[in-house]
Amino acid sequence: MDKIFMDLFSKEPLEILDGDYHYGTDDVGDQFDEHDEARWLSSRFKENIDVSKEPWLFSWFPMSQEICQKIADEGKPFLEIACGPGMGLTPFIRNKNPEIVCLATDASSRLIKAWRKYINSQISDSKINLASFNALDMPLKDHSFDYVTSYIGISNTRDGVEGKLQALKEVYRVLKPGGYFVGVEADFEDYSKIDEVFKLAGRENYYVKPELSWAEKIAATDFEIVSDDQHYIRNFTSDDNELGAYADQFGIEIGLKNTLYILRKK
Ligand SMILES: C[S@@+](CC[C@H](N)C(=O)[O-])C[C@H]1O[C@@H](n2cnc3c(N)ncnc32)[C@H](O)[C@@H]1O
Repeated sequence: MDKIFMDLFSKEPLEILDGDYHYGTDDVGDQFDEHDEARWLSSRFKENIDVSKEPWLFSWFPMSQEICQKIADEGKPFLEIACGPGMGLTPFIRNKNPEIVCLATDASSRLIKAWRKYINSQISDSKINLASFNALDMPLKDHSFDYVTSYIGISNTRDGVEGKLQALKEVYRVLKPGGYFVGVEADFEDYSKIDEVFKLAGRENYYVKPELSWAEKIAATDFEIVSDDQHYIRNFTSDDNELGAYADQFGIEIGLKNTLYILRKK
């Protein structure tokens, strides 16, 4: 762990492996298995980290290019939450400044250990530090970072609206005053269409409409909205899951709306 980050932790880790801090949070993250790990290490990590040829993020959200450039140019250490196998926005920022130091985190220790294996063997000169902890209860001091980044990190946490609000509040807490959350977060465009496909399929709908929209969740925090008007809508298909398969079968478009949020801590 880079000294810059060591000083920002507020709690002792349960375990330090290869310099990475682990806080024993596997139960709150995705339940990955050895097949996932084999796939990541054989191709996915490499494809995900090398965005030089295809910066799809920038074509989906033109403003993401500007903000990633700003983070890269300032070169301040940043925090990536719920980094997953894609490592969120980190590849897009590193591509613009390979020397930038970051702390990439996820609740899953399997994922973080696999990233460590990949980094040590393939990109050992990278400045990516790693830790496993819960984004809803970060073991970090208040006012630690200028930037926190995420790619559908908060949307994928599991404790319903309360959990997502808690994650947003944690992001607010660990940001310095004037610091930014830069995240793409997702929600379905129209939950009544999901009801419709499940009715047609004669199945019970297990998708629950969130009690609060993203706008309402952000309004429940003290964040100032810098940008929330860039969206990318992707229709679910049978490649996604059962809902996508029904959508294909009944010819109903189920759009997942991804929004780029740039939020500033007052
Ligand atoms: C689908 S991925 C999100 C996409 C990811 N940022 C990427 O770029 O690939 C979801 C990730 O969120 C992590 N996660 C879920 N709940 C979490 C939590 N409470 N705290 C931290 N990470 C969490 C999961 O372990 C998983 O790796």
